[in-house]
Amino acid sequence: MSPYAKVGGLGDVSASLSAALKKLGHDVRVVVPRYGCIDIEKSGAAVTLNSMGVWMGNKEEWCMVYRAESSGKAPVYFIEHSVFFDRDGLYHDNNMSDYDDNPLRFAFFSRAALQLCKDINFKPDIVHGNDWQTALVSAYLKVWHWNDPLLGGAASLLTIHNAAYQGIYPKSNYDYIGLGWQNFTEPAFESYDKVNFLKGGIHFADMVTAVSPTFAKEICEPGGGFGLAPYLSAKGSKFKGILNGIDYEEWDPQIDIHLPAHYSADDLDGKKKCKRYLQKLFCLKNDPKVALIGTIGRFVDQKGFHLIRNIIERVLDDMHVQFVILGSGEKNLEWFFQDLPVRYSGSAGSYIGYHNERAHLIEAGCDFFLMPSLFEPCGLNQMYSLRYGTLPIVRATGGLEDTVENYDEAAGSGNGFKFWESSENALYYTIGWAVSTYYDRPAHIRKMMLDGMKRDFSWETSAEKYVKAYAAAIENKKEADSYTPYYSVESKKKKPASASNKKISNSGNEITPSV
Ligand code: ADP
Ligand code: GLC
Repeated sequence: MSPYAKVGGLGDVSASLSAALKKLGHDVRVVVPRYGCIDIEKSGAAVTLNSMGVWMGNKEEWCMVYRAESSGKAPVYFIEHSVFFDRDGLYHDNNMSDYDDNPLRFAFFSRAALQLCKDINFKPDIVHGNDWQTALVSAYLKVWHWNDPLLGGAASLLTIHNAAYQGIYPKSNYDYIGLGWQNFTEPAFESYDKVNFLKGGIHFADMVTAVSPTFAKEICEPGGGFGLAPYLSAKGSKFKGILNGIDYEEWDPQIDIHLPAHYSADDLDGKKKCKRYLQKLFCLKNDPKVALIGTIGRFVDQKGFHLIRNIIERVLDDMHVQFVILGSGEKNLEWFFQDLPVRYSGSAGSYIGYHNERAHLIEAGCDFFLMPSLFEPCGLNQMYSLRYGTLPIVRATGGLEDTVENYDEAAGSGNGFKFWESSENALYYTIGWAVSTYYDRPAHIRKMMLDGMKRDFSWETSAEKYVKAYAAAIENKKEADSYTPYYSVESKKKKPASASNKKISNSGNEITPSV
């Protein structure tokens, strides 16, 4: 959750959706692991529970909880469990190797979020989980808390931000997860004899959403959804796509605190200054007229950086352009992009790593923004680009298809350049199309920039769609409750102290009195 811990778009969405829901008048609480990168003092958080016991399938874990409050935002609870979360990475180490104990870490975290509700006496109508990491909350609610006075009435909604990461782990973790072997079945958690967190979450959730309508459709198509298509299709009207919004307090060139100059659709002067600044920062030739193309992202297959790698030298050799690249991930891609400016001095610049300020500068200073994604559940950068008058060049997939309108040369309309085939040639020629338009039809480029800057991707619209989806989840739960005999793990074994409704000695006393 931005600004505390962010590796991609989920960080932006958790922060801005919760704020937008709060603005609509809802009482929203966000729960985040206290990752190693979160500085509790700087975040202004204070201890709210000195210790909280969380009963897992075969052992009890203990953690501490902090609470941070900032104006206009939903309160955030940080679950501190040093052994699980005090590490350099969120999900993997510096070599991109997933932590072996991820299933334990996120099963614990999901269960802890629900235990927190009990310990602070917060009765939610809806618990909203995101991706495989918190997919289990839907299952815990039904299996553990179905008859709990505080949580028994809560419906669950699970949002899929990325169906490619499902959280698939050896079944040896299942006893700790504690959802009962009766749920280790093919429609629920079992996947080729392993535990699949996301698939199980989909099974138990009262409502499932994906982060754009086109991605929702794509992952239901036969063979789609990385194996999840049949399970998603089976959800019927309990599965839908809701396009992410963007936070215009954070991403707006009129007020962006990271820019050397501000600008708007009425006065684009500041954009030229941002371009000059960006060229200087990345040691590019100071040339206000050259077409400057930028890209930012995680160096993983999904984002199409391998396509960029394979054509970028051809583009730099054949076209009058400059490139800036910001990202990190697969080592071979990091090495390639790190080395590129040495070979194309003055026309290619790169920064390998995570750098929020540079991300804002690239959005503002470039003429074009490249997203040749193999698949893209939503994508936020193309929406930021549109707001910053930077024309997106994208592969028409998922949220990119939903947000970018292709250039129509005859009418001079559209707000970006699209291609369909995931191939080097398609990318190369689409860049060529954009660059030739830039030099040959500048009036069209200007019109497209202005069109994009005026598009509204604010969260208000999307947050209202979520509220409707929450209401649908509540209805779905009521209906399911009327005929589903939930199987309780609790009823099978002795109830552990911390999982009961009774508070135990040093748990259950939230320190912050205002909750
Ligand atoms: P994904 O979540 O799949 O990575 P999105 O487009 O939804 O893709 O969101 C990516 C977010 O992460 C954007 O806010 C983008 O600016 C940011 N981002 C990605 N890589 C970097 C980086 N290396 N430095 C700074 N910001 C980055
Ligand atoms: C995921 C997707 C990205 C989406 C983001 C936020 O990381 O890859 O497309 O924008 O989540 O929903």
